[in-house]
Amino acid sequence: MEVLGIDIGGSGIKGAPVDTDKGTLLAQRYRLLTPTPAKPQAVAETVAKISKKFNWKGSLGIGFPGVIRRGVTLTAANIHDDWVGLNAAKFIKKVTGRKTCIINDADAAGLAEITFGAGKDRQGVILLVTIGTGLGTAIFSDGHLVPNSEFGHLEIDGVEAEWLASDAARKRENLSWKKWGHRFNHYLQTMEKLFWPDLIILGGGISKKHEQFKQYITVQAEVIPAQMMNEAGIIGAAVGACKYGN
Ligand code: BGC
Repeated sequence: MEVLGIDIGGSGIKGAPVDTDKGTLLAQRYRLLTPTPAKPQAVAETVAKISKKFNWKGSLGIGFPGVIRRGVTLTAANIHDDWVGLNAAKFIKKVTGRKTCIINDADAAGLAEITFGAGKDRQGVILLVTIGTGLGTAIFSDGHLVPNSEFGHLEIDGVEAEWLASDAARKRENLSWKKWGHRFNHYLQTMEKLFWPDLIILGGGISKKHEQFKQYITVQAEVIPAQMMNEAGIIGAAVGACKYGN
């Protein structure tokens, strides 16, 4: 099947047509800046521009940076509050004129890695953490997703993990790889004490920098970088949004 995968992020909105059987992009991805403020109308119009760019007539599979249940946005940590309570699937369908399915962005990236990437053919409990503007998580047990886990908001010493250990935190505080690596390791240690995953996959743009910080990671679980890098969000949204979303 061919679906236009779209990844809505804190800084950019990216899309490309995806072959959902092979998990590959059918054309080079197209990226536009996330509008500020990132209100529903402005974001949906940006999605429509991406759809028009590919002259798309089929469905859209969207990854969104918040909790999504049956098409409705329930949280919006790094995007405008106006999304909360909105049926995002229906709203984007109205603006774009395309059938729209929507799921959480980290769940989308996780589905791509489990189906085609670093978690392919792996059993047991797998935790995927996407490190970007926020910290997104996806949890799988023997390949089955438990949707909408939000462990980037886990409080560590009274502070949200996302505030301390996201890539945005590293940039905001100008942290060395060593300092950030220790912080992120503390987060993974906390998650390990609670979930005991067999495998941890690290995604987001920072997965390219795995070599810079892997020496600071001391958890017992095997920790590996995501394989699909920037494309996981797009591919997973195309593959998973209609299956797991509304
Ligand atoms: C949101 C998650 C999202 C993550 C990555 C967090 O702030 O609450 O839903 O997956 O950021 O975008």
